[in-house]
Amino acid sequence: PYKLLLDCDPGLDDALALLLAHGDPNIELVGITTVGGNVALQNTTRNALQLREYLKFPKVPVSAGAAGPLTRTFRDAAHVHGASGLGNVVLPEATLAVTGIHAVDAIIELITATPGTIHLVATGPLTNIALALEKEPAIARWAASFTIMGGSSTRGNATAAAEFNIWADPEAARIVFDADWRVTMIGLDLTLQAQANSIVIDRMKKLGALADELIVPLSTFYFNPNVPDWDGQAVHDVCAVAYVARPDLFDCRLARVDIETTGEFTTGMTVVDFDSPSPNALVATKLDVSGFWAYVETVYARVAAE
Ligand code: BDR
Ligand code: CA
Repeated sequence: PYKLLLDCDPGLDDALALLLAHGDPNIELVGITTVGGNVALQNTTRNALQLREYLKFPKVPVSAGAAGPLTRTFRDAAHVHGASGLGNVVLPEATLAVTGIHAVDAIIELITATPGTIHLVATGPLTNIALALEKEPAIARWAASFTIMGGSSTRGNATAAAEFNIWADPEAARIVFDADWRVTMIGLDLTLQAQANSIVIDRMKKLGALADELIVPLSTFYFNPNVPDWDGQAVHDVCAVAYVARPDLFDCRLARVDIETTGEFTTGMTVVDFDSPSPNALVATKLDVSGFWAYVETVYARVAAE
């Protein structure tokens, strides 16, 4: 199986991504690190701990990381994910705690312990990853792959130009894209193709308690049928985990991605040049939508049957 380390800010779709990473037998979840993003670090960490116990993988270490961006003031997305970060899902209090290790050190330790084997996936602001790169630049070469949910080559969601995870900490994103690895960017262009529409939700509803308690509420909490082009809520972060196990479901193109950090209207924008002679990223463009849902539903059904 692919050893996967997930840096996240749960977060409705982060929680769904965690469920996929846990449930796919071709993925071995080796660690979870948390960052402040959708909600404050305290809440993203609590959510990760609660999900770990609810889904029964107590041995996977959870380490808390950066509470806010490198230089800017913290701005959350509680208007999307709810005050807790998990919408209206209420999970039992966790009994197990975080490791005593900071997420930045956990990332470095896990990757350097077995170079070339850890697939690093980031589904929140890139603060922890940037700090880890500054402390140990070699992780860029030692990670087996690095995939983010973030950015876009067309439009934003936090602003007209910027996607939330990049907008939340553009300075960190710039460090991450400039590091000695090739970033796989699963941005909005891709993830807006992964909308949990009513057909998907109806199939998920057959999965019993896991669907009632977790999958359906997480996948529908902020769906707004009045937004044009929204057939269902997009499960952004699930796509980034799916890419590690099922890259065959994604069309990608090499590109140069630079991060705008000073634009009046464009701060946090990923400037994507598909014609650049010096690409630093693989940008996902097209999803095999039916293949994606077949894969996700199979994994979720497996967890539901546990
Ligand atoms: C990204 O922003 C967050 O709100 C989601 O969890 C996802 O990682 C989508 O832009
Ligand atoms: Ca996220």
